[in-house]
Amino acid sequence: MADGKIEAQPAVLLDQLRALVANPEAFASDRQEIIALARQAAVALEEPFETLQRLVYSPLPLITARVAQDHKIFQTLLENKDAPTSAAVLAQKTGIHPTLLDSLLEYLTTQNMVGEVSPQQYTPTKLSNLLVAPLFVDAVVHFHDNCLPAFNALNFSLAHPSDPRTPFEIGHNSPTDFYTWLETHPVQAGAFHRFMEAQFASLPTWLDVVSFPDEYAQSASPETPIFVDVGGGIGQQCVALKKKFPSLQGKIILQDRAAVLEKAIVGDDVEKMPYDYLTEQPIKGARAYYFRQIFHNNNDATCQKILASLLPALGPSSVILIDEKVLPDEKPSGTSVEYTAALSLAMLAMFKALERRESQWRKLLGDAGFEIREIKKFTDYGDSVIVAVKK
Ligand SMILES: C[S@@+](CC[C@H](N)C(=O)[O-])C[C@H]1O[C@@H](n2cnc3c(N)ncnc32)[C@H](O)[C@@H]1O
Repeated sequence: MADGKIEAQPAVLLDQLRALVANPEAFASDRQEIIALARQAAVALEEPFETLQRLVYSPLPLITARVAQDHKIFQTLLENKDAPTSAAVLAQKTGIHPTLLDSLLEYLTTQNMVGEVSPQQYTPTKLSNLLVAPLFVDAVVHFHDNCLPAFNALNFSLAHPSDPRTPFEIGHNSPTDFYTWLETHPVQAGAFHRFMEAQFASLPTWLDVVSFPDEYAQSASPETPIFVDVGGGIGQQCVALKKKFPSLQGKIILQDRAAVLEKAIVGDDVEKMPYDYLTEQPIKGARAYYFRQIFHNNNDATCQKILASLLPALGPSSVILIDEKVLPDEKPSGTSVEYTAALSLAMLAMFKALERRESQWRKLLGDAGFEIREIKKFTDYGDSVIVAVKK
Protein backbone atom coordinates (compact mmCIF):
# COMPACT_ATOMS: atom_id res chain seq x y z
CA MET A 1 0.00 0.00 0.00
CA ALA A 2 1.39 3.42 -1.00
CA ASP A 3 -0.14 6.80 0.04
CA GLY A 4 -2.98 4.92 1.76
CA LYS A 5 -4.05 3.53 -1.60
CA ILE A 6 -4.37 -0.18 -2.25
CA GLU A 7 -1.93 -1.30 -4.90
CA ALA A 8 -3.60 -2.70 -8.01
CA GLN A 9 -2.98 -6.44 -8.32
CA PRO A 10 -4.81 -7.58 -11.45
CA ALA A 11 -3.52 -11.17 -11.19
CA VAL A 12 -4.90 -11.52 -7.64
CA LEU A 13 -8.22 -10.01 -8.65
CA LEU A 14 -8.48 -12.33 -11.66
CA ASP A 15 -7.78 -15.37 -9.48
CA GLN A 16 -10.44 -14.24 -7.02
CA LEU A 17 -12.98 -13.65 -9.78
CA ARG A 18 -12.31 -17.11 -11.24
CA ALA A 19 -12.78 -18.59 -7.76
CA LEU A 20 -16.04 -16.69 -7.43
CA VAL A 21 -17.38 -17.95 -10.77
CA ALA A 22 -16.44 -21.53 -9.83
CA ASN A 23 -17.95 -21.32 -6.34
CA PRO A 24 -20.31 -18.33 -5.87
CA GLU A 25 -21.61 -19.69 -2.53
CA ALA A 26 -18.25 -18.93 -0.90
CA PHE A 27 -18.84 -15.23 -1.59
CA ALA A 28 -22.52 -15.17 -0.60
CA SER A 29 -22.10 -13.09 2.55
CA ASP A 30 -20.82 -10.11 0.53
CA ARG A 31 -23.05 -10.82 -2.47
CA GLN A 32 -24.69 -7.43 -2.93
CA GLU A 33 -21.54 -5.34 -2.53
CA ILE A 34 -19.63 -7.61 -4.92
CA ILE A 35 -22.37 -7.36 -7.56
CA ALA A 36 -22.51 -3.55 -7.24
CA LEU A 37 -18.72 -3.19 -7.43
CA ALA A 38 -18.40 -5.70 -10.28
CA ARG A 39 -20.92 -3.67 -12.31
CA GLN A 40 -19.07 -0.44 -11.55
CA ALA A 41 -15.78 -2.14 -12.41
CA ALA A 42 -17.11 -3.33 -15.78
CA VAL A 43 -18.29 0.19 -16.66
CA ALA A 44 -15.02 1.74 -15.43
CA LEU A 45 -12.98 -0.61 -17.61
CA GLU A 46 -15.13 -0.35 -20.73
CA GLU A 47 -13.87 1.51 -23.77
CA PRO A 48 -16.41 4.02 -25.16
CA PHE A 49 -16.89 1.70 -28.15
CA GLU A 50 -17.88 -1.13 -25.79
CA THR A 51 -20.17 1.13 -23.75
CA LEU A 52 -21.88 2.20 -26.95
CA GLN A 53 -22.49 -1.38 -28.09
CA ARG A 54 -23.80 -2.39 -24.66
CA LEU A 55 -26.22 0.52 -24.64
CA VAL A 56 -27.59 0.27 -28.16
CA TYR A 57 -28.20 -3.45 -28.02
CA SER A 58 -29.77 -3.36 -24.56
CA PRO A 59 -33.25 -4.57 -25.71
CA LEU A 60 -31.79 -7.75 -27.20
CA PRO A 61 -31.46 -9.97 -24.10
CA LEU A 62 -35.23 -9.71 -23.51
CA ILE A 63 -36.08 -10.13 -27.20
CA THR A 64 -33.82 -13.13 -27.76
CA ALA A 65 -35.06 -14.75 -24.53
CA ARG A 66 -38.61 -14.45 -25.89
CA VAL A 67 -37.56 -15.98 -29.25
CA ALA A 68 -35.69 -18.81 -27.53
CA GLN A 69 -38.58 -19.56 -25.16
CA ASP A 70 -41.14 -19.47 -27.95
CA HIS A 71 -39.05 -21.87 -30.06
CA LYS A 72 -38.34 -24.12 -27.07
CA ILE A 73 -34.57 -23.78 -27.38
CA PHE A 74 -33.98 -23.94 -23.62
CA GLN A 75 -36.42 -26.82 -23.22
CA THR A 76 -34.71 -28.81 -25.99
CA LEU A 77 -31.29 -28.33 -24.37
CA LEU A 78 -32.67 -29.38 -20.99
CA GLU A 79 -34.47 -32.45 -22.32
CA ASN A 80 -31.23 -33.61 -23.90
CA LYS A 81 -29.43 -33.46 -20.57
CA ASP A 82 -26.94 -36.29 -21.03
CA ALA A 83 -25.21 -34.81 -24.08
CA PRO A 84 -24.81 -31.50 -25.87
CA THR A 85 -27.42 -30.69 -28.53
CA SER A 86 -26.17 -29.96 -32.02
CA ALA A 87 -27.12 -26.87 -34.02
CA ALA A 88 -28.62 -29.23 -36.63
CA VAL A 89 -31.01 -30.77 -34.08
CA LEU A 90 -31.97 -27.31 -32.81
CA ALA A 91 -32.63 -26.14 -36.39
CA GLN A 92 -34.88 -29.13 -36.96
CA LYS A 93 -36.77 -28.67 -33.66
CA THR A 94 -37.20 -24.89 -33.93
CA GLY A 95 -37.87 -24.65 -37.64
CA ILE A 96 -35.49 -21.65 -37.75
CA HIS A 97 -33.19 -21.61 -40.79
CA PRO A 98 -29.71 -22.91 -39.74
CA THR A 99 -27.95 -19.70 -40.83
CA LEU A 100 -30.29 -17.51 -38.77
CA LEU A 101 -30.19 -19.92 -35.86
CA ASP A 102 -26.39 -19.76 -35.87
CA SER A 103 -26.51 -15.99 -35.20
CA LEU A 104 -29.22 -16.36 -32.59
CA LEU A 105 -27.31 -19.07 -30.71
CA GLU A 106 -24.11 -17.04 -30.88
CA TYR A 107 -25.89 -14.11 -29.23
CA LEU A 108 -27.52 -16.35 -26.61
CA THR A 109 -24.10 -17.74 -25.64
CA THR A 110 -22.77 -14.18 -25.11
CA GLN A 111 -25.59 -13.72 -22.60
CA ASN A 112 -24.92 -17.08 -20.88
CA MET A 113 -28.45 -18.11 -21.79
CA VAL A 114 -26.97 -21.17 -23.51
CA GLY A 115 -23.49 -22.71 -23.39
CA GLU A 116 -21.43 -23.80 -26.39
CA VAL A 117 -19.15 -26.67 -25.30
CA SER A 118 -17.58 -27.24 -28.73
CA PRO A 119 -18.34 -25.70 -32.12
CA GLN A 120 -22.09 -26.02 -32.87
CA GLN A 121 -22.72 -28.12 -29.73
CA TYR A 122 -24.89 -26.51 -27.07
CA THR A 123 -25.69 -27.20 -23.42
CA PRO A 124 -28.05 -25.58 -20.93
CA THR A 125 -26.71 -23.06 -18.39
CA LYS A 126 -27.99 -21.85 -15.02
CA LEU A 127 -29.91 -19.20 -16.98
CA SER A 128 -31.46 -21.72 -19.41
CA ASN A 129 -32.85 -23.51 -16.37
CA LEU A 130 -34.32 -20.29 -14.97
CA LEU A 131 -35.78 -19.25 -18.33
CA VAL A 132 -38.04 -22.32 -18.53
CA ALA A 133 -39.51 -21.69 -15.06
CA PRO A 134 -43.14 -20.46 -15.32
CA LEU A 135 -42.32 -17.14 -13.58
CA PHE A 136 -39.55 -16.37 -16.07
CA VAL A 137 -41.66 -17.40 -19.08
CA ASP A 138 -44.55 -15.19 -17.93
CA ALA A 139 -42.26 -12.28 -17.06
CA VAL A 140 -40.55 -12.39 -20.46
CA VAL A 141 -43.91 -12.53 -22.30
CA HIS A 142 -45.29 -9.65 -20.20
CA PHE A 143 -42.28 -7.37 -20.59
CA HIS A 144 -41.66 -8.25 -24.23
CA ASP A 145 -45.24 -8.25 -25.54
CA ASN A 146 -46.93 -5.75 -23.22
CA CYS A 147 -44.28 -3.35 -21.94
CA LEU A 148 -41.62 -3.09 -24.65
CA PRO A 149 -43.80 -1.20 -27.17
CA ALA A 150 -44.83 1.12 -24.29
CA PHE A 151 -41.19 1.77 -23.28
CA ASN A 152 -40.50 2.51 -26.91
CA ALA A 153 -43.17 5.24 -26.93
CA LEU A 154 -41.97 6.91 -23.71
CA ASN A 155 -39.82 9.48 -25.46
CA PHE A 156 -42.60 10.45 -27.89
CA SER A 157 -45.07 10.70 -25.01
CA LEU A 158 -42.81 12.98 -22.95
CA ALA A 159 -42.20 15.17 -25.99
CA HIS A 160 -45.98 15.51 -26.53
CA PRO A 161 -47.36 16.17 -23.03
CA SER A 162 -50.74 17.30 -24.37
CA ASP A 163 -51.30 13.91 -26.05
CA PRO A 164 -53.79 12.24 -23.68
CA ARG A 165 -52.75 8.72 -24.65
CA THR A 166 -50.49 6.63 -22.42
CA PRO A 167 -47.20 5.46 -23.95
CA PHE A 168 -48.80 1.98 -23.91
CA GLU A 169 -51.65 3.21 -26.12
CA ILE A 170 -49.23 5.03 -28.44
CA GLY A 171 -46.79 2.12 -28.70
CA HIS A 172 -49.47 -0.49 -29.30
CA ASN A 173 -51.58 1.84 -31.43
CA SER A 174 -54.39 0.81 -29.09
CA PRO A 175 -57.62 2.77 -28.65
CA THR A 176 -57.99 1.28 -25.16
CA ASP A 177 -56.01 1.19 -21.91
CA PHE A 178 -53.83 -1.78 -20.94
CA TYR A 179 -56.45 -3.63 -18.87
CA THR A 180 -59.14 -3.37 -21.57
CA TRP A 181 -56.58 -4.41 -24.22
CA LEU A 182 -55.73 -7.51 -22.14
CA GLU A 183 -59.33 -8.73 -22.51
CA THR A 184 -58.70 -9.41 -26.22
CA HIS A 185 -55.13 -10.71 -25.72
CA PRO A 186 -55.49 -13.91 -23.66
CA VAL A 187 -51.85 -15.06 -23.92
CA GLN A 188 -50.58 -11.71 -22.67
CA ALA A 189 -53.35 -11.47 -20.03
CA GLY A 190 -52.52 -14.93 -18.69
CA ALA A 191 -48.81 -14.10 -18.51
CA PHE A 192 -49.48 -10.77 -16.78
CA HIS A 193 -51.79 -12.13 -14.08
CA ARG A 194 -49.59 -15.16 -13.35
CA PHE A 195 -46.56 -12.86 -13.21
CA MET A 196 -48.39 -10.58 -10.75
CA GLU A 197 -49.17 -13.64 -8.66
CA ALA A 198 -45.69 -15.14 -8.59
CA GLN A 199 -43.13 -12.37 -8.89
CA PHE A 200 -42.85 -11.64 -5.17
CA ALA A 201 -43.03 -15.26 -4.01
CA SER A 202 -39.45 -15.20 -2.71
CA LEU A 203 -39.95 -11.98 -0.68
CA PRO A 204 -41.76 -11.29 2.59
CA THR A 205 -45.41 -10.23 2.15
CA TRP A 206 -47.93 -8.00 3.93
CA LEU A 207 -49.06 -11.07 5.88
CA ASP A 208 -45.68 -11.08 7.61
CA VAL A 209 -46.43 -7.70 9.20
CA VAL A 210 -50.22 -7.76 9.61
CA SER A 211 -51.71 -10.13 12.16
CA PHE A 212 -55.05 -10.21 10.37
CA PRO A 213 -57.19 -12.24 12.81
CA ASP A 214 -56.20 -10.10 15.81
CA GLU A 215 -56.30 -6.77 14.04
CA TYR A 216 -59.32 -7.12 11.72
CA ALA A 217 -61.33 -10.26 12.40
CA GLN A 218 -62.00 -10.07 16.15
CA SER A 219 -65.56 -11.17 16.99
CA ALA A 220 -66.49 -11.41 13.30
CA SER A 221 -69.47 -13.58 12.36
CA PRO A 222 -69.49 -15.69 9.17
CA GLU A 223 -71.47 -12.83 7.52
CA THR A 224 -69.08 -10.01 8.47
CA PRO A 225 -67.14 -8.80 5.44
CA ILE A 226 -63.61 -8.88 6.79
CA PHE A 227 -61.45 -8.62 3.65
CA VAL A 228 -62.34 -7.01 0.33
CA ASP A 229 -59.53 -7.37 -2.22
CA VAL A 230 -60.25 -4.50 -4.61
CA GLY A 231 -58.72 -5.07 -8.07
CA GLY A 232 -57.44 -8.31 -6.60
CA GLY A 233 -56.58 -9.92 -9.94
CA ILE A 234 -56.95 -13.68 -9.93
CA GLY A 235 -57.15 -13.70 -6.13
CA GLN A 236 -53.70 -14.67 -4.96
CA GLN A 237 -53.90 -12.55 -1.79
CA CYS A 238 -57.31 -13.97 -0.83
CA VAL A 239 -55.81 -17.45 -1.21
CA ALA A 240 -52.71 -16.46 0.80
CA LEU A 241 -54.85 -15.02 3.61
CA LYS A 242 -57.00 -18.17 3.80
CA LYS A 243 -53.93 -20.39 3.71
CA LYS A 244 -52.21 -18.53 6.52
CA PHE A 245 -55.36 -18.32 8.68
CA PRO A 246 -57.56 -21.30 7.72
CA SER A 247 -60.01 -20.79 10.58
CA LEU A 248 -60.61 -17.10 9.90
CA GLN A 249 -64.27 -16.14 10.48
CA GLY A 250 -65.99 -13.74 8.08
CA LYS A 251 -66.48 -13.11 4.38
CA ILE A 252 -63.62 -12.65 1.94
CA ILE A 253 -64.53 -10.90 -1.29
CA LEU A 254 -62.49 -10.68 -4.48
CA GLN A 255 -63.35 -7.76 -6.77
CA ASP A 256 -62.01 -7.18 -10.27
CA ARG A 257 -63.13 -6.89 -13.87
CA ALA A 258 -65.46 -9.75 -14.88
CA ALA A 259 -63.02 -11.09 -17.50
CA VAL A 260 -60.26 -11.35 -14.86
CA LEU A 261 -62.52 -13.09 -12.32
CA GLU A 262 -63.20 -15.84 -14.86
CA LYS A 263 -59.58 -16.93 -14.39
CA ALA A 264 -59.60 -16.57 -10.59
CA ILE A 265 -57.78 -19.21 -8.56
CA VAL A 266 -59.94 -18.84 -5.44
CA GLY A 267 -62.18 -21.56 -3.99
CA ASP A 268 -65.86 -21.37 -3.04
CA ASP A 269 -64.92 -19.82 0.31
CA VAL A 270 -64.12 -16.53 -1.50
CA GLU A 271 -66.91 -14.50 -3.09
CA LYS A 272 -66.12 -13.24 -6.60
CA MET A 273 -67.69 -9.91 -7.39
CA PRO A 274 -67.27 -8.03 -10.69
CA TYR A 275 -66.67 -4.41 -9.73
CA ASP A 276 -65.29 -1.23 -11.29
CA TYR A 277 -63.32 0.61 -8.62
CA LEU A 278 -64.34 3.95 -10.15
CA THR A 279 -67.92 3.32 -9.02
CA GLU A 280 -69.32 3.30 -5.47
CA GLN A 281 -68.05 0.40 -3.37
CA PRO A 282 -71.05 -1.94 -2.85
CA ILE A 283 -69.66 -3.81 0.19
CA LYS A 284 -70.37 -1.56 3.16
CA GLY A 285 -68.60 -1.56 6.50
CA ALA A 286 -65.98 -4.22 5.74
CA ARG A 287 -63.17 -4.53 8.26
CA ALA A 288 -60.42 -4.14 5.63
CA TYR A 289 -60.44 -2.92 2.03
CA TYR A 290 -57.18 -4.10 0.52
CA PHE A 291 -55.56 -2.56 -2.58
CA ARG A 292 -52.40 -4.20 -3.86
CA GLN A 293 -50.60 -2.51 -6.75
CA ILE A 294 -53.66 -0.51 -7.76
CA PHE A 295 -52.74 3.10 -7.02
CA HIS A 296 -49.41 2.94 -8.84
CA ASN A 297 -51.43 2.12 -12.01
CA ASN A 298 -53.27 5.42 -11.72
CA ASN A 299 -52.47 9.12 -11.67
CA ASP A 300 -53.46 11.27 -8.67
CA ALA A 301 -56.76 12.41 -10.21
CA THR A 302 -57.92 8.82 -10.84
CA CYS A 303 -56.69 7.72 -7.39
CA GLN A 304 -58.87 10.46 -5.91
CA LYS A 305 -61.86 8.96 -7.77
CA ILE A 306 -61.04 5.47 -6.50
CA LEU A 307 -60.78 6.75 -2.93
CA ALA A 308 -63.97 8.83 -3.27
CA SER A 309 -65.80 5.69 -4.48
CA LEU A 310 -64.64 3.86 -1.37
CA LEU A 311 -65.17 6.52 1.28
CA PRO A 312 -69.00 6.19 1.67
CA ALA A 313 -68.62 2.43 2.29
CA LEU A 314 -66.32 2.80 5.30
CA GLY A 315 -67.77 1.99 8.70
CA PRO A 316 -66.39 2.93 12.12
CA SER A 317 -64.13 -0.14 12.25
CA SER A 318 -63.10 -0.11 8.57
CA VAL A 319 -59.54 0.41 7.41
CA ILE A 320 -57.97 0.66 4.01
CA LEU A 321 -54.83 -1.41 3.54
CA ILE A 322 -52.66 -0.28 0.64
CA ASP A 323 -49.94 -2.77 -0.31
CA GLU A 324 -47.45 -0.86 -2.43
CA LYS A 325 -44.03 0.69 -2.54
CA VAL A 326 -43.51 3.65 -0.23
CA LEU A 327 -40.32 5.20 -1.54
CA PRO A 328 -38.29 7.37 0.83
CA ASP A 329 -38.54 11.15 0.52
CA GLU A 330 -34.87 11.57 1.29
CA LYS A 331 -32.26 9.14 0.16
CA PRO A 332 -28.50 9.42 0.53
CA SER A 333 -27.05 9.99 -2.94
CA GLY A 334 -25.85 6.85 -4.65
CA THR A 335 -28.38 4.60 -2.90
CA SER A 336 -31.03 4.45 -5.62
CA VAL A 337 -32.21 0.96 -6.42
CA GLU A 338 -32.37 0.07 -10.12
CA TYR A 339 -35.42 -2.17 -9.75
CA THR A 340 -37.67 0.39 -8.03
CA ALA A 341 -36.49 3.21 -10.30
CA ALA A 342 -37.24 1.02 -13.35
CA LEU A 343 -40.64 -0.01 -11.96
CA SER A 344 -41.61 3.63 -11.64
CA LEU A 345 -40.75 4.19 -15.32
CA ALA A 346 -42.76 1.07 -16.21
CA MET A 347 -45.79 2.64 -14.50
CA LEU A 348 -45.16 5.81 -16.51
CA ALA A 349 -44.99 3.84 -19.75
CA MET A 350 -48.04 1.68 -19.09
CA PHE A 351 -50.33 4.10 -17.24
CA LYS A 352 -48.81 7.62 -17.08
CA ALA A 353 -48.46 7.00 -13.33
CA LEU A 354 -45.48 6.57 -10.96
CA GLU A 355 -44.41 4.83 -7.75
CA ARG A 356 -45.03 7.21 -4.82
CA ARG A 357 -42.82 8.59 -2.07
CA GLU A 358 -44.04 8.77 1.53
CA SER A 359 -44.96 12.47 1.37
CA GLN A 360 -46.89 11.85 -1.87
CA TRP A 361 -48.90 9.07 -0.19
CA ARG A 362 -49.63 11.35 2.77
CA LYS A 363 -50.88 14.12 0.48
CA LEU A 364 -52.93 11.79 -1.76
CA LEU A 365 -54.69 10.10 1.14
CA GLY A 366 -55.05 13.32 3.17
CA ASP A 367 -56.69 15.13 0.23
CA ALA A 368 -59.12 12.21 -0.17
CA GLY A 369 -60.27 12.36 3.47
CA PHE A 370 -58.07 9.61 4.90
CA GLU A 371 -55.54 9.63 7.69
CA ILE A 372 -52.55 7.30 7.71
CA ARG A 373 -52.48 5.29 10.93
CA GLU A 374 -49.21 3.49 10.20
CA ILE A 375 -46.89 2.35 7.46
CA LYS A 376 -45.48 -1.15 7.88
CA LYS A 377 -42.51 -1.82 5.64
CA PHE A 378 -41.80 -5.46 4.83
CA THR A 379 -39.09 -5.62 2.13
CA ASP A 380 -35.82 -3.87 1.37
CA TYR A 381 -37.49 -2.48 -1.77
CA GLY A 382 -39.92 -0.25 0.09
CA ASP A 383 -42.90 -2.65 -0.14
CA SER A 384 -45.21 -1.57 2.65
CA VAL A 385 -48.71 -1.79 3.99
CA ILE A 386 -50.23 1.64 4.49
CA VAL A 387 -53.00 1.41 7.07
CA ALA A 388 -55.39 4.35 6.69
CA VAL A 389 -58.75 5.29 8.17
CA LYS A 390 -61.42 7.87 7.45
CA LYS A 391 -60.52 11.27 8.97
C1 LIG B 1 -51.42 -4.51 -11.16
S1 LIG B 1 -52.83 -5.54 -11.13
C2 LIG B 1 -52.87 -5.99 -9.43
C3 LIG B 1 -53.65 -7.24 -9.17
C4 LIG B 1 -53.60 -7.72 -7.71
N1 LIG B 1 -54.10 -6.70 -6.79
C5 LIG B 1 -52.18 -8.10 -7.35
O1 LIG B 1 -51.54 -7.37 -6.57
O2 LIG B 1 -51.67 -9.08 -7.86
C6 LIG B 1 -54.16 -4.39 -11.23
C7 LIG B 1 -55.54 -5.04 -11.22
O3 LIG B 1 -56.53 -4.02 -11.28
C8 LIG B 1 -57.59 -4.49 -12.09
N2 LIG B 1 -58.34 -3.34 -12.59
C9 LIG B 1 -57.97 -2.45 -13.54
N3 LIG B 1 -58.91 -1.53 -13.70
C10 LIG B 1 -59.92 -1.83 -12.83
C11 LIG B 1 -61.16 -1.23 -12.51
N4 LIG B 1 -61.58 -0.09 -13.11
N5 LIG B 1 -61.92 -1.79 -11.55
C12 LIG B 1 -61.52 -2.92 -10.91
N6 LIG B 1 -60.34 -3.54 -11.16
C13 LIG B 1 -59.55 -2.99 -12.12
C14 LIG B 1 -56.89 -5.27 -13.18
O4 LIG B 1 -57.76 -6.15 -13.86
C15 LIG B 1 -55.79 -5.97 -12.39
O5 LIG B 1 -56.19 -7.23 -11.94
